[in-house]
Amino acid sequence: MKPVILVTRKLPEAVEERLLRDYMPRLNPDDHLYSSDELIESASGADAILPCHTERFTAQVIQRLPVSVRIIANYSVGFDHVDVEAARSRGLVVTNTPDVLSDATAEVTIMLMLGAARRAGEGERMVRTGTWRDWSPSFMVGTQMTGKRLGIVGLGRVGRVTARRARGFDMIIHYHNRRRLPPDLEEGAVFHPTPEDLMPHCDFLALHCISSPETYRMLNADRIALLPDGAIVVNASRGTVVDDDALTAALKSGKIAAAGLDVYNGEPVIHPEYRALQNTFLMPHIGSATKETRDAMGFRALENLDAFFAGREPPDRVA
Ligand code: DGY
Repeated sequence: MKPVILVTRKLPEAVEERLLRDYMPRLNPDDHLYSSDELIESASGADAILPCHTERFTAQVIQRLPVSVRIIANYSVGFDHVDVEAARSRGLVVTNTPDVLSDATAEVTIMLMLGAARRAGEGERMVRTGTWRDWSPSFMVGTQMTGKRLGIVGLGRVGRVTARRARGFDMIIHYHNRRRLPPDLEEGAVFHPTPEDLMPHCDFLALHCISSPETYRMLNADRIALLPDGAIVVNASRGTVVDDDALTAALKSGKIAAAGLDVYNGEPVIHPEYRALQNTFLMPHIGSATKETRDAMGFRALENLDAFFAGREPPDRVA
């Protein structure tokens, strides 16, 4: 008997074809968002769940999952939507999909930096709404990215690709990480042992840390105050790492010149000030949204399932 896999969202065609070939998947062709109750009911008799970050596996949900479920093979690198402690104590294996989305997410980070610095949202709105009237030396003047200092919080896989791409703009890389990286991974980036040490060196600040209790609202008013005036902030990690009230206040005062955001607290319902402000460049959580990457995420989740059901250790086990 092939293992039964509950697949919570519509996945790329090639991935669903593979699922249909090797497993007994329960697919979600209309791609609706499952409530916790529907998730638990639909998992009845399933051996595994292949969810996205849109489904929340709280301790309560995990407790109520049918005993048949032995692995949660996430279609995401982030796994903050899963209470890993609760999963561990129930003996549930949890995996993620690292590496395969680093290029796509770093691309979006560079886009956020350029979009925020060069006022792309404002410019696009102006052209689209027919409110572009003139050219002048003072019109739509932004901040140049070339040669500036980029501070990265979290020099993991995505952070390192962002650093590499940013070096193409002659940017000088500074970073803070829980642990200092070896020189081959640092590639010349300057380490700062605390976020407080890093902040004064950031003309641009890119947040690439994972969402965890330690990083909750790591970008707060105190740390924003340590940034150079007119710094630019971008976030393609998780909304939880930003204190929205502090960031919107700094965007209003001009302490922060602009922000480029792809992720938000409570998304898709976001802090209303972000929409109201002109100096924000906003994307709807599309960091990994390329055909290549979405296929690769699916195949990576399948590699984890294949290993698990063959009795091997899944390569991307996080619990
Ligand atoms: C991830 O993989 O964590 C992306 O944010 C999409 O879920």
